[in-house]
Amino acid sequence: MNEKKEFGDFQTPDSLAIRAIALIDKLFENPDYVVEPTSGIGGFLGAAANYWNRTASYEGYEINNHYVEASRLRLAGLNVEVHHRDFFTEDWVSNLSKSDKPRVLVIGNPPWVTNSDLGQLGSSNLPKKTNFQGLRGLDARTGKANFDIAEWMLIRLIEALPSTGAIAMLCKTMTARKVLKHFWKTEGGRKDSHLFKIDAKAEFDVSVDACLFFTTGKKISDRAATVHAALDFESNQTRIGFIDGDLVSDIDSYEAYRHLDGGSSIYTWRSGIKHDASKVMEFTKKNGRLINGYGNEADIEDDYVFPLLKSSDLGNGRIAIRKSVLVTQRHTGDNTSEIKRKAPKTWAYLMEHADTLDARKSSIYQNRPRFCVFGIGSYSFSPWKVCISGLYKRISFVLVAPTDGRPVMVDDTCYSIPCCCKEEAELVYELLSSDVATAFLNSLIFTDSKRPITVDVLRRLSIVELARVLGRIDNLQKICQSYSEDDSGVDTQMSLLMEQELKYRTMRRS
Ligand SMILES: C[S@@+](CC[C@H](N)C(=O)[O-])C[C@H]1O[C@@H](n2cnc3c(N)ncnc32)[C@H](O)[C@@H]1O
Repeated sequence: MNEKKEFGDFQTPDSLAIRAIALIDKLFENPDYVVEPTSGIGGFLGAAANYWNRTASYEGYEINNHYVEASRLRLAGLNVEVHHRDFFTEDWVSNLSKSDKPRVLVIGNPPWVTNSDLGQLGSSNLPKKTNFQGLRGLDARTGKANFDIAEWMLIRLIEALPSTGAIAMLCKTMTARKVLKHFWKTEGGRKDSHLFKIDAKAEFDVSVDACLFFTTGKKISDRAATVHAALDFESNQTRIGFIDGDLVSDIDSYEAYRHLDGGSSIYTWRSGIKHDASKVMEFTKKNGRLINGYGNEADIEDDYVFPLLKSSDLGNGRIAIRKSVLVTQRHTGDNTSEIKRKAPKTWAYLMEHADTLDARKSSIYQNRPRFCVFGIGSYSFSPWKVCISGLYKRISFVLVAPTDGRPVMVDDTCYSIPCCCKEEAELVYELLSSDVATAFLNSLIFTDSKRPITVDVLRRLSIVELARVLGRIDNLQKICQSYSEDDSGVDTQMSLLMEQELKYRTMRRS
């Protein structure tokens, strides 16, 4: 099984290859040279050679010698050559450029494995320089540097493609998007870019969003691609693109709600609490007693224990509190050793589980106070919050009220806007739950991502502009003023910021 995973050895069913080739023909007729860079047992090459026959020549490249032999036998008499080669040592510019055959078409299905999967398998089936997107430091450590091998292969192939050529490959939808983003960011668009969704569960028995990705070698300034809901031109279509340096999941809808873009001057979205030790730090309540993830009672003081809502609670619209969490700090820099004096039983509990807490792997805990948590600040202790889980496809905000007089925490896969009072939270909730806000956010999110709703997307929505559009600006203004007055001389500047944003937006509209 490991070898199958290592080489992304999921051969394309013939029926799918045949349908894909018929569709490709509608976008790129009569290729004169067809190349399959990881040709496996030759399903794609066979479908292509049977479709276009002798009007083209065909070449396959494959690392597995058994497959090379098998495909040579299977494709005999079809004008197909199959080479036993490693993709990573090939010169693709020279492989794809034949002066007498300008209409080159690259087809196939590269391995869908990621570089970190390969790392775990101890595989060397990788490009030499793996940090190819130039990610450094935290991004590399937090997994942003993790990429699909297919992404690397597709970028190399498109770079090598002559302007008269085209490429059509099965891959994860996310991979196709990342590849397009790479080119949209670095050099511009490509003529005729399409993603045709396929049913990967039915075809390959894998649960992932996948597509047939088609694009050409012709560079253009328009940075957009059409996404088709199925492997045809008849199904529902939307356009994804790159606008002002960011990916947009539905260009037409985004254009309609673009006025809401540009961020919110008065509110900051915050991530929830992170502790990486749920069995120790989280509890359920049974008959008034706190039970930790090991099923043991935690006999600790109330001082550091707060109600907790998890992503699954928010995602399913559950606001009844089922859990609580031990919050060892109020700010990231706080010295946790004071717990020993203030709450000796809590300290004893932490010491009892010190091995687990000290072994937390993430580098964010290094050189920080022992037993510390992350994603914490005065905002975490705001009595009211408007929250959302980042893990669900549906945009659904939740109004979170204090419970038993204590602020409710959310976990690190959730985001929230802290509010000082019920009136403010209700207004922010009403604004965020409006149809316009949902339509704007939906035009930016990609539902096939692991975390469809990100803080970067949420931060783009202007709550001031939203209030103006919905005729609630006076109410928001009143709340901003009350912030300035309440803060006994410490002006939070919310009113000022709001005035400035309103002026700027009026200017932009005119
Ligand atoms: C997802 S399968 C697809 C096979 C074929 N393209 C098809 O559509 O049926 C990926 C293929 O890539 C081959 N492969 C993996 N790493 C390779 C490499 N470094 N060079 C060439 N082929 C490779 C595997 O052996 C496997 O046959």
